Amino acid sequence: MNPVIDTIMSHRSIRQFKDEAMTKEQMKTIIEAAQMAPSSRFMQTYSIIGITNPLLKKDLGTITGLTYVENNGHFLIFCADLHRLTIMASEEEKQNMQDMLESTQFYQIATIDASLAAQNAALAAESMGLGVVYIGAIAKNLPEIDKLLNLPSHVIPLFGMAIGIPDQKPEIKPRLPIQAVYFENQYNSDAEEQREFTESYDQKMKAYYQTRSENPRADTWSGKNIALFQKKADANYSQYVKSKRMNVK
Ligand SMILES: Cc1cc2nc3c(=O)[nH]c(=O)nc-3n(C[C@H](O)[C@H](O)[C@H](O)COP(=O)(O)O)c2cc1C
Repeated sequence: MNPVIDTIMSHRSIRQFKDEAMTKEQMKTIIEAAQMAPSSRFMQTYSIIGITNPLLKKDLGTITGLTYVENNGHFLIFCADLHRLTIMASEEEKQNMQDMLESTQFYQIATIDASLAAQNAALAAESMGLGVVYIGAIAKNLPEIDKLLNLPSHVIPLFGMAIGIPDQKPEIKPRLPIQAVYFENQYNSDAEEQREFTESYDQKMKAYYQTRSENPRADTWSGKNIALFQKKADANYSQYVKSKRMNVK
């Protein structure tokens, strides 16, 4: 294995950090690594907001209900950003751009661009001996976060990322068997085979959940997902995205 693969294979989310801020140089390296991610049509349709104001970080900790959103070495918010593409356009051009700006296709491209940049940042941080955790829990109150960050239309926060010096070393989470996620030439619709892979993985995850050193629980991977998907979808989420004039059509 080479050091890059070693770093990738050692990934675990870190939710407890030492009380030490990242240096400007560390953050510059991490953000520049994020920027080197590929980008659809080279539109670079994302922005990254670093939270350096402790009061703002505290607010984000309260909104997400997560201590590690406040207590970390640095906190980033990754946004899908189509706004920047309009900056150099005339008023008439801006009007003509609305159709594409509001499309599902370009909303999706912006989320992909932001996600690729984020994972580059995560890997860069991990390669420097730091720990990271993505924070989807910002979705608990997107309009409030939108206001706090002063986001223009066509910009939405997708997820946060806490970065810092790890103060824990959780066990690595087992992944699905490779046959469950990698198919050749066509989708594997053999339900029996897929059930077998998932069943054996459920057993493995059950043992992992029961025996892990932190936050043990009695559950399977399928069980937790099926329970989750029987809840009502969050209508506020799509309402918020549409209010930002994204994913409207
Ligand atoms: C988009 C995204 C959002 C996530 N949101 C949260 C979150 O809000 N809180 C949290 O503790 N972990 C969050 N995670 C981390 C996942 O729970 C974690 O990656 C997953 O359980 C696999 O564990 P591992 O990263 O340790 O391998 C998120 C991960 C992703 C990719």
